[in-house]
Amino acid sequence: MAILLPGGAGYIGSHTAVELLNEGKEIVIIDNFSNSKPEVLDRIKQITGKEFKFYELDYLDKEKLEKVFEENEIDSVLNFAGYKAVGESVQKPIEYYTNNVSGCLVLLDVMKKYNVKKFIFSSSATVYGDPEFIPITEECKTGGTTNPYGTSKLFIEQILKDTYASDNSWDICILRYFNPVGAHESGLIGEEPQGIPNNLMPYVARVAAGTLKELSVFGNDYDTHDGTGVRDYIHVVDLAKGHVSALNKLDKEGKGLYIYNLGTGTGYSVLDMVKGFEQATGKEVPYKIAPRRAGDIATCYANPKKAKEELGWEATKNLDDMCKDSWNYIRNNG
Ligand code: UFG
Repeated sequence: MAILLPGGAGYIGSHTAVELLNEGKEIVIIDNFSNSKPEVLDRIKQITGKEFKFYELDYLDKEKLEKVFEENEIDSVLNFAGYKAVGESVQKPIEYYTNNVSGCLVLLDVMKKYNVKKFIFSSSATVYGDPEFIPITEECKTGGTTNPYGTSKLFIEQILKDTYASDNSWDICILRYFNPVGAHESGLIGEEPQGIPNNLMPYVARVAAGTLKELSVFGNDYDTHDGTGVRDYIHVVDLAKGHVSALNKLDKEGKGLYIYNLGTGTGYSVLDMVKGFEQATGKEVPYKIAPRRAGDIATCYANPKKAKEELGWEATKNLDDMCKDSWNYIRNNG
């Protein structure tokens, strides 16, 4: 029995592939390399010493996707495929909805055809919009997303709820990620943003490396401890382990639709991250204060209690680990 990972060569998919292989699970990866590189597959093998099957395909290609289900005994699907750049999604809504929503629908349709009904979905804290309350629990109201990327996550969550309501033999787990950062401690896999990074940590790492001149801190007049935006940064390996715990829950208990926040419960400001990075790496991160970025909120961090109680999972890595591992990856792969 194998676990299918669409988007398994990407940032979060590749780290989850490593954790699943380390647990002795059989996996099959599909990816079209739209935001990843083929070398990642060898690196997953290098880290784990394990083999797995890979298909280069776009999950919108139903015929090819069906072939994967024909050729393998797929038991569950962890969907990491999807576009994820917030700013780009505003410019390219049709591409984002097609890839993220239609792609996921093709996947669910093929799963249904082959009677595979165990599904874990990569959602995002973005579904909480400007959060109703902090720390954010899973009961917090969703909606009010400010860009097509976030709305695509919200749509898919609704599609999954409707799917489960129509047929409760599905086992579905929606994981709402907070801000994934860091890289595998080996330095072999990590985040590979194309072009100039939009997200804070990859930007900071490139400033430290000298590839980018200075960080623009987007706003220092928010209602936070130092005026800069506060987020819940979570080490990608902790996040990956959260998927293993979620899968174990579906394997053991199944029959339900579950929703969990995957965050640490700690909020760090932009300036906390800059200081943390400088301390962890000994590198200087020059920055300037710039205007607020459109669509940003002041504060976003999780209450991670439900995942701890029901999955037995909690984040274990700290800010120092996140910064050191990000830096290690950039240094090795710069
Ligand atoms: N920031 C800067 N300068 C930069 C980049 C970011 O000051 O160059 C600040 C932002 O204003 C924000 C914080 O750093 O306060 C984090 O910004 P990111 O872009 O790294 O992350 P976001 O919280 O905006 O978005 C992330 C993911 C989304 C996801 C969202 C969920 O990128 O995919 O978290 O809350 F939807």
